[in-house]
Amino acid sequence: MINADCSPLKAPLIFDSHSHYDDEGFDEIRDCLLNELPNNGVCGIVTCGCDKASCQKAISLAEKYDYIYAAVGIHPDNISTGTTVQDIRLLAESKNVVAIGEIGLDYFHNAENKTEQIKLFEEQILLAKELDLPVIVHDREAHADTLEILKKHKPKGVLHCFSGSVEMAAEILKLGMYIGIGGVITFKNAKKLPDVVKMLPMDRMLLETDCPYLAPEPFRGKLCHSAMIYYTAEKIAEIKDISLNEILEKTAENSKKLFGL
Ligand code: NI
Repeated sequence: MINADCSPLKAPLIFDSHSHYDDEGFDEIRDCLLNELPNNGVCGIVTCGCDKASCQKAISLAEKYDYIYAAVGIHPDNISTGTTVQDIRLLAESKNVVAIGEIGLDYFHNAENKTEQIKLFEEQILLAKELDLPVIVHDREAHADTLEILKKHKPKGVLHCFSGSVEMAAEILKLGMYIGIGGVITFKNAKKLPDVVKMLPMDRMLLETDCPYLAPEPFRGKLCHSAMIYYTAEKIAEIKDISLNEILEKTAENSKKLFGL
């Protein structure tokens, strides 16, 4: 089921801090895959919901698999599903929920409802603070507003699939937040990201897939899963001149610390 090339790793060192295993792309293979990942180097996964239905699926997966944890939130692309912050509050009562996410701003897909996105983002940050949970933040082509809101509320959490500048990364670090690095770092057109990885202290980096999307090279374009983080970590090890094991161990430790595991 898992191509052995996806992770030559036997020791379970990979913690995937951001995934979407509820996605229909996994429907045919989900249980088979999730049973095999721990034998292919994976020690932990956070699967993020994007609206009520997908949050419920994320929680079910976390109930079924010991090494999987759920995050619940309304993704900016899912505003029109009608999921409310009250729904998220109730979903967050599950003991398997470790974060509020995926929440944030997406001006790439939706530039016409910015005010509504900002309101929902802020309400969910306040919920996370009230529940003492970290946030998992999505920011696509909305760097300035995302940063302003994070500076205003100072939640604990991670800015996932970071796509900003070195300067923005420095601002996020000042807020005490983590930065999520995914498969994009292996792409030839990852422009600013190698510089961000270079400056990012090891105690603030999380690894992630955002699967089923963004498979790292040499699997770009294929269905992505958590064992492929091996290749993301290999690239980071090369950029930072640190051993692969150290990258995996430190980022897993960071995830466990942030999500209270
Ligand atoms: Ni995501």
